[in-house]
Amino acid sequence: MATNAATVQWIFGKYTREDLMKMDPIVLRGLLHERTHHMIEVPLYPTLLKWRGRAIKSFGRQAQLCYEVWRAREFTDRADDIQWVKKYLAIAEQIRAGKKPELDEPLPVPFSKAEMVVVKKLIYGRRSYRDYLNKPIPDEMLETILEAGRAAPIGCNLGHLKFIVLRTPKERAMIWSDIPTRSCGAIIVLCHDKRVAAVVGHDRVVPQNAGFDAAAAGDHMLLMAHALGLGGCWLSEMYGEGDTTEIFKKKYGLPDYIEPDLHIILGYPSIGIIKSSRTPLEEMIIEKPQK
Ligand SMILES: Cc1cc2nc3c(=O)[nH]c(=O)nc-3n(C[C@H](O)[C@H](O)[C@H](O)COP(=O)(O)O)c2cc1C
Repeated sequence: MATNAATVQWIFGKYTREDLMKMDPIVLRGLLHERTHHMIEVPLYPTLLKWRGRAIKSFGRQAQLCYEVWRAREFTDRADDIQWVKKYLAIAEQIRAGKKPELDEPLPVPFSKAEMVVVKKLIYGRRSYRDYLNKPIPDEMLETILEAGRAAPIGCNLGHLKFIVLRTPKERAMIWSDIPTRSCGAIIVLCHDKRVAAVVGHDRVVPQNAGFDAAAAGDHMLLMAHALGLGGCWLSEMYGEGDTTEIFKKKYGLPDYIEPDLHIILGYPSIGIIKSSRTPLEEMIIEKPQK
């Protein structure tokens, strides 16, 4: 059913159907994700719990308009993110018609003892390795690692994260690091497309989210690498004089709107590493100060 929403509008922007028809596809996809998240996913669950049996005429219309333009421009209908959007659009349509949608989604179930053994092996067994064999990582393994990053939490499901896989020694040399990068399997640079955050106003209200999104994806990748028998480590960027991000952007030829947030190195470790440990938990917990 076509929407009668004329614009996508909120405090950070106002876009007519014509604006959306001209919008860069990556930015439009990000906006479609964000409008689905904020205009359907977020209000849906409280609406269902306090269902009053009344039609909510505007429910999800902005997301619907973004989707209609997406399809009018003949972009994919099959990708799994668009399938996710469509599930919510169908629910929003029911709410606009005053019909309570029935959801049949699972609640979390505790893992079995055997499953917990695996989870603990993953979380507590991971460590940062700092020297690697000069051995390439098979493509399927790299894809599995990138997919794990893709599954990580991401603010408003924005879809602005981009991954660069540096494999050759020449490419890897573009990344500054305090550990050797000459031999390893690959370096993954996790970036975000700044245009997407700008169109939804994230650059103004939640500028920290882009780095958090990259960190969450990087951590998922490192855990998956560990499960695959590989090692990995974060590599910090350096700001100030000799800004390593700017140097990489220039050397790699990245457009200005792609911002690198984090690098991780991956490969077959050449030497084991002593497992680090943390500050005691009781020292990490801040109790409410006594007056
Ligand atoms: C934000 C961040 C930046 C890091 N940067 C570096 C780095 O530049 N070089 C490095 O050798 N390790 C780096 N690490 C890895 C940490 O040193 C490591 O996680 C920490 O010492 C704990 O060891 P573990 O990962 O083996 O548990 C970084 C980790 C994080 C979370």
